[in-house]
Amino acid sequence: MEHSHIRNFVIISHIDHGKSTLADRFLEVTKTVPSAKMRPQFLDMMDLEREKGITIKMQPVRMEYKEYILNLIDTPGHVDFSYEVSRSLAAVEGAILLVDATKGVQAQTLANLDLARQQGIVIIPAINKIDSLQARIEEVKKEMSDLLNIRSEEIFEISAKLGTNVEQLLQAVIEKVPAPKGELDKPLRALIFDSQYDFYKGVIAYVRVIDGKIKSAEKIYLLNAKKEGEAKEIGYFLPQKSGQPELKAGEIGYIATNVKEAEKVRVGETIIKIQNANLKNQNIEPLMGYKEPQAMVFASFYPENPAQFDLLKDSLAKLKLNDASLTYEPETKESLGRGFRCGFLGSLHAEIISERLHREFGLNLVISTPSVVYEVRKKDGTKFFVYSASDWPDPSQITEMGEPWVKLEVLTPVNYLGSVLALLEKTDGKQIETRYFGRDLVFLIYETPLREIISGFYDNLKGVSQGYASMNYYLLGYRPAELVKLEILLLGRKEEVFSKIVPEKKAEAEGRKMVKKLKETLPSQLFSLPLQAAVGGKIIARETLRARGKDVVAPLYGGDYTRKRKLLEKQKKGKKELKSKGEVNIPQKVFLEMFRS
Ligand code: GTP
Repeated sequence: MEHSHIRNFVIISHIDHGKSTLADRFLEVTKTVPSAKMRPQFLDMMDLEREKGITIKMQPVRMEYKEYILNLIDTPGHVDFSYEVSRSLAAVEGAILLVDATKGVQAQTLANLDLARQQGIVIIPAINKIDSLQARIEEVKKEMSDLLNIRSEEIFEISAKLGTNVEQLLQAVIEKVPAPKGELDKPLRALIFDSQYDFYKGVIAYVRVIDGKIKSAEKIYLLNAKKEGEAKEIGYFLPQKSGQPELKAGEIGYIATNVKEAEKVRVGETIIKIQNANLKNQNIEPLMGYKEPQAMVFASFYPENPAQFDLLKDSLAKLKLNDASLTYEPETKESLGRGFRCGFLGSLHAEIISERLHREFGLNLVISTPSVVYEVRKKDGTKFFVYSASDWPDPSQITEMGEPWVKLEVLTPVNYLGSVLALLEKTDGKQIETRYFGRDLVFLIYETPLREIISGFYDNLKGVSQGYASMNYYLLGYRPAELVKLEILLLGRKEEVFSKIVPEKKAEAEGRKMVKKLKETLPSQLFSLPLQAAVGGKIIARETLRARGKDVVAPLYGGDYTRKRKLLEKQKKGKKELKSKGEVNIPQKVFLEMFRS
């Protein structure tokens, strides 16, 4: 098909505004997926996405409609997965900006629109869920035109659920989004925007072909990694992979590279042909690539079974292919053995990765409490970053401490302003600016420590505003802090994975919260288990998890006291033995629950 008949686009929005549902309608209208095979949120391919009802991964799909090829990339909406959005934007020329008519403009609407504008791509605004009884069509259109600088008459009114005006929107994509530039006669340059591992075909690179063309079985070269490969298979996403003889400039598809070392293939990489790489005077410019994402939260992952260290290493490399924002480095701790310190864009991201490691690779993990990176100066003048509470130095050695602060933007309908402000007040931050949009919407800008918003804050914000308030944040830099290391003792023994760096003034409340949460989430053991929180060796909170009551004497009725006593003695001995080993059974789900506290 003609190059001029290709349109590449994404759907961007705040979380839950209906991207995946709109994508479903497009798949139907274009008959890409037969109606018998259709299921809601078709492009959410992972079980985890379907269970949680959120998109985690971008997913490309090629559709044919009238004389056109329409390449759509469905993107996630949650702030933790914004790197997925920015990468897909670089592979397309247009974006549908979707706003939920019942919710209005929310924080990720603004953030994603900003990203799209930076890329200079065409934006087609649409308001979704017009079928809903709660839809506030005129108000939300006004919000969009005021806040986003979009002309009201340009906004499409659709229902992704019912299909209303969906074909008109697709027609607008054809008319408004320009055909890809790129030159067919130039040497091949393909941008990798995502990837996946295949045991037989090596890394499968998801690409946007910028210039030239590539045929199956041609030898390829990764320009930045300086690595040779072979296009073992190339094809399109329909949305399942479908092998094709050729991929051309302007198209989106995949190249199975035959490269088996997962870490060699990075997103943002440029694929060229080896024949061109070998020609000295070719001078092929690498494509722009992507900015490395900045990890906000760190947590250490250790395999429960130390023999699985290599499996964990391998699994992380494969997951990184599929999730470029994950970072990791090996780390060894006396109490935990060998593991990895992993960097994430947020706590939800950490949770998703640990669940994927469990489900997709069968790994049971010991996971340390996620933490931001603290900065410490010691008496000897050395200054360093602390990624994990277990590396916190002896307090007597510390002269200065610092922690990351963020600019936090919260967008809330005015009815919830009171409760949202009350929540923000608890973050140790300070209010910088308040802007009103129309009569209904308030935009609050705060400066606040990052630690306050990495776990639970987003959920609380949703909770106090019936899901209407939303947030976004940007790193500002380090500011002085007064911090202490909070330790958790199980059975009187320090359990380093639960250690946490907290502000001195919040240590006691935090300690109480943690032991209470542990009591609720830990399965009861054969013995009763003291749960303590301590700072500098001093116990500041305590709970007891009662023993799993296996009542050994119950079956004995009557007066046989000797037997009863004997049994009780025996049970006591068993408990003692376990106790002396200090073995407390902590399933992976407990670590995940502790994340959320
Ligand atoms: P993320 O990818 O997780 O950000 O979500 P999303 O933007 O893909 O939203 P999704 O398509 O999963 O839809 C979110 C919810 O809104 C689902 O319960 C949909 O059924 C519902 N929904 C989507 N479109 C419409 C619509 O036009 N009308 C109504 N009434 N509900 C809709």
